[in-house]
Amino acid sequence: MTVMLSDGRPMPRLGLGTYPMRGEAARQAVIHAISLGYRLIDTAAIYGNEAEVGAGVADSSVARDELFVTTKLRGSHHGYDAAMRGFEESRARLGLDYVDLFLIHWPLPSRDLYTDTWRAFIHLRDQGLARSIGVSNFTPAQIRRLSDETGVLPVVNQIEMHPGFPQHELRAFHAEHGIVTESWSPLGARSKLLDDPAVTDLALAHGRTPAQVVLRWHVQAGAVPIPKSGDPERMRQNFEVFDFSLSPEETARLDAIDGGRLGADPDHHVEL
Ligand code: A2P
Repeated sequence: MTVMLSDGRPMPRLGLGTYPMRGEAARQAVIHAISLGYRLIDTAAIYGNEAEVGAGVADSSVARDELFVTTKLRGSHHGYDAAMRGFEESRARLGLDYVDLFLIHWPLPSRDLYTDTWRAFIHLRDQGLARSIGVSNFTPAQIRRLSDETGVLPVVNQIEMHPGFPQHELRAFHAEHGIVTESWSPLGARSKLLDDPAVTDLALAHGRTPAQVVLRWHVQAGAVPIPKSGDPERMRQNFEVFDFSLSPEETARLDAIDGGRLGADPDHHVEL
């Protein structure tokens, strides 16, 4: 259950988001998720849990090379040197020799440093310290600029996406450039998405939970969702979305929810 990135590396089709879990809860969640079959674990410097996520990876029963660990550079570390330093700090906190995917967390266009940051990412990739490199919350224009100025496209853009905020244009841009869409807040948790009749009707029809229907929508959209849960039962159900499918009509019904951006928590947008 992997998707092939444009750099030739496989990425799991679904992962565990770890924001805002901290401390022992984060370590336990990672260990439990891996025991359930999760292979992609997503963290970020800004989450303040890299040490515990790394400990969970180390304490899991699965070999490092079967896991796919993502972290993200915080906004305070834009620029070539700062990005190199930021990576090393994250890698040390995680206690890993390499990360599978390193993302620029936010473009912060007002600082106009993200291309310099990207040059550091390319260097890290060439050194094998970040096996794959990508971005998060970038627009097509910002991605084009990275490519124009460095010749290297990100392999992933991690964006807010769910049926209430389906990001059709951005996904079309990604498809055109071989960029994998990774969805944060895939369950649209801060909106009422899981209570929407389109979702609950389909859940009933398939004998699934609303969260499973929504996560299946992501998978069929070719996106990699990273639902966060600290609850073992929810973690289990969130991973069990590969044994049923939504028909084109059912997908269209979910696409039609399109309620705009249904209320992301502004805290998600902390940039530093
Ligand atoms: P919890 O950690 O208590 O399970 P998103 O990734 O879209 O931001 O959603 C995360 C939120 O959704 C968390 O508050 C999480 O709570 C909740 N959540 C995760 N999985 C499920 C599920 N299967 N059903 C309902 N809520 C869920």
